[in-house]
Amino acid sequence: MKASLIFQSLVGLVMAVPAADSADALVARQSVVTGKYCSPITQLCYNEYTTQGGSTFRVAVSDAAAGTTFDIAVQLLAPAGQGWVGLSFGGSMTYAPLAVGWPNGQSVTGTVRWANGHTMPTVYSGATLKILPDSGTNGTHYMLSAICTGCSSFPRSGSGTKTLNPSGTFRAAWAQNIQRGSVAQPANPASNFNYHQYFNYFDADLGSAKVPAAQFQAAAALA
Ligand code: HEM
Repeated sequence: MKASLIFQSLVGLVMAVPAADSADALVARQSVVTGKYCSPITQLCYNEYTTQGGSTFRVAVSDAAAGTTFDIAVQLLAPAGQGWVGLSFGGSMTYAPLAVGWPNGQSVTGTVRWANGHTMPTVYSGATLKILPDSGTNGTHYMLSAICTGCSSFPRSGSGTKTLNPSGTFRAAWAQNIQRGSVAQPANPASNFNYHQYFNYFDADLGSAKVPAAQFQAAAALA
């Protein structure tokens, strides 16, 4: 079966969140629902955090992850027809890698950005994304599925480095643009895009998001 068809049927079963309501634009959403999710395409299992904006963020790390530099698998989902969705590894928009995804026809474009202020984040050369084959768009959602290299450790404002603990929890931030047509050039990972309507924060637990190293490597090899 084609990966896109598997993705369509699976997301349809697992995700039944309503589209976000534009009347609530600019309201920071309050809570997340946590859970577990395993991809039928990559066999990689994630911790899952679903927001009241109808977006979902998933993280996984290898149980061999140690030290300051380790890969982090992420999935970013949002309702079909919306603009873009982003996850910050630093708990803020500024001074942190921002993984961002948006629909591009039936596929999804992914990029890592950086912002020193509350302005359009530019492409971040300190991190890269390997896009996994369960990324895609269906009738209800679009999803960026990727492994980030360089998202576990990054410079902070002024001086110093922030390093995530592969066995601990990190403060994540997320943002979502709910308007179709918000990305200037959907096929271009370096494209400009419009400001978000929603953002908020949650604690992502990497310790309980660990998977066997072989499972992580097998998924990464599909990129
Ligand atoms: C065109 C791109 C963007 C612009 C112009 C922009 C602008 C802003 C502005 C002006 C604020 C201040 C609060 C407000 O007025 O709503 C803000 C806050 C915030 N933005 Fe963005 N933003 C952009 C992209 C992103 C992306 C890609 C993320 C990814 C996660 C993000 C995450 C956040 C978060 C978490 C906050 C809360 C304050 C903070 O933690 O820094 N933004 N943004």
